[in-house]
Amino acid sequence: MTLVVKIEKTGGPEVLKFEKITLKKPEPDEVTIEQKAIGLNFIDTYHRSGLYPLNLPSGIGSEGAGIIKEVGSKVSNFSVGDNVAYAGAPLGSYSSLRNYPTKNLVKIPDGIDFSTAATLMTKGLTAFYLLYKTFKVSANDTILFHAAAGGVGQIFCQWAKSLGCKVIGTVGNEEKINIAKKNGCDFVINYTKEDFAKKVLEITKGIGVPVIYDGVGKDTFEKSIECLQFMGMMVSFGNSSGPLSNIDVKKMIQPKSLFFTRPTMFHYLASREQINEGTEKLFERVKLGKIKIEIFKKYKLENAIEAHKDLESRKIIGPAVLIP
Ligand SMILES: NC(=O)c1ccc[n+]([C@@H]2O[C@H](COP(=O)([O-])OP(=O)(O)OC[C@H]3O[C@@H](n4cnc5c(N)ncnc54)[C@H](OP(=O)(O)O)[C@@H]3O)[C@@H](O)[C@H]2O)c1
Repeated sequence: MTLVVKIEKTGGPEVLKFEKITLKKPEPDEVTIEQKAIGLNFIDTYHRSGLYPLNLPSGIGSEGAGIIKEVGSKVSNFSVGDNVAYAGAPLGSYSSLRNYPTKNLVKIPDGIDFSTAATLMTKGLTAFYLLYKTFKVSANDTILFHAAAGGVGQIFCQWAKSLGCKVIGTVGNEEKINIAKKNGCDFVINYTKEDFAKKVLEITKGIGVPVIYDGVGKDTFEKSIECLQFMGMMVSFGNSSGPLSNIDVKKMIQPKSLFFTRPTMFHYLASREQINEGTEKLFERVKLGKIKIEIFKKYKLENAIEAHKDLESRKIIGPAVLIP
C-alpha cells in the first residue's frame, strides 16, 4: 500500500490527512517513483493554509527524489532503476510512491544522495534563478538576503559568496547567526533585535545595496526599501511572515526609482533547457563542494504535521526532508 498525505480543507498542520491507497499505473508520459526523500518547503504551508489556493481535495508537496519503479508506455528517456528528482506540479510529493510526468524530472548524478537531491530541486534551483536570472549579481556586489539560515537561505548565501558577492544575511535568533556565517554570510543581523536597515546602511557606508532578496514578506518589506540604492531591485520571492498588502508606489518605489519583482520559480524553470541549465550549474557546485548541504532534520513522512509546526515556528534551521 502507498502512504499519501492529502488536504481536504485548508487550515493548520492538523488538516494534513494520511491515507493508504493502491497507486494506479503510470500514464503514458509518467513514471512511478519509489520516493526516498521529500523536500519540506515553506510553500507547502501556503498550500495547506490556503494562502496559495488549490482545488480540493489535493495532494501536497512539490519536491522529491527516489527510484523509478515503472515507466509509462511513451517514456523513452528514463528507465526502471534510475535515481531521479523533481520539483513542481502536480502536487503530491508527500507520498511513499507516486506517479510523476517526466517533464520536470532529472536524473540524480552519482555522488548526490536522495535527501540532498530532494533539497536541491526547489531550494537550490530557487537560489540559481534568483542569482543568475532575476538579478544577475556581480562579483563585488554587496547584497542582502533575509532569513539567511533557512532552507533557501543556506544554499543561496553559499552560492552568492562563491560568486564573489559580499553577503549580508538576516536571521531570527542568536543561534542562527553562526549558521548563516558558516553558509557564506559576511555580515549577519538578528532582525528581531536590531534595526536591520540601519545596520545595512552602516555596512554599506550609507549607499545601500543594489538588490534585496526577501522571502519573509510582510515584516521586512518596508524596512528593506530603506536599504536599497537608487535604481535598486527589490526581489520579493516569498511570504514566511505573511503576504505583502498593496504597495504604495509613490511612497515606496518612486523616491529611489526602484525596481520591484515578485518572481516564481516555475516561470523561470518552465522548459527542459532552463531546468537543465539550472541543475547542471547546481549539481556541479555541490559535487565540487562549493555548496554543502547539511540536512537539519529528517522527519518520517508520518510526522509531517510535526514538520509543518516546526517550520512555521522557525525551529527548522536549513533544509529538512520527510522520509517515507
Ligand atoms: N518564489 C519562489 O520561486 C520560491 C521558491 C522557493 C521558496 N520560496 C520562498 O522562500 C522562502 C524560504 O523558503 P524555505 O522553504 O527555505 O523556508 P525557510 O527559510 O527554511 O523558513 C522560513 C524562515 O522565514 C523566517 N521567518 C521570518 N518571519 C517568520 C514568521 N513570522 N513565521 C515563520 N518564519 C518566519 C524564519 O527564519 P528566521 O527565524 O531566521 O527569521 C524561517 O525559518 C519562503 O518564503 C518560500 O515561500 C519562494
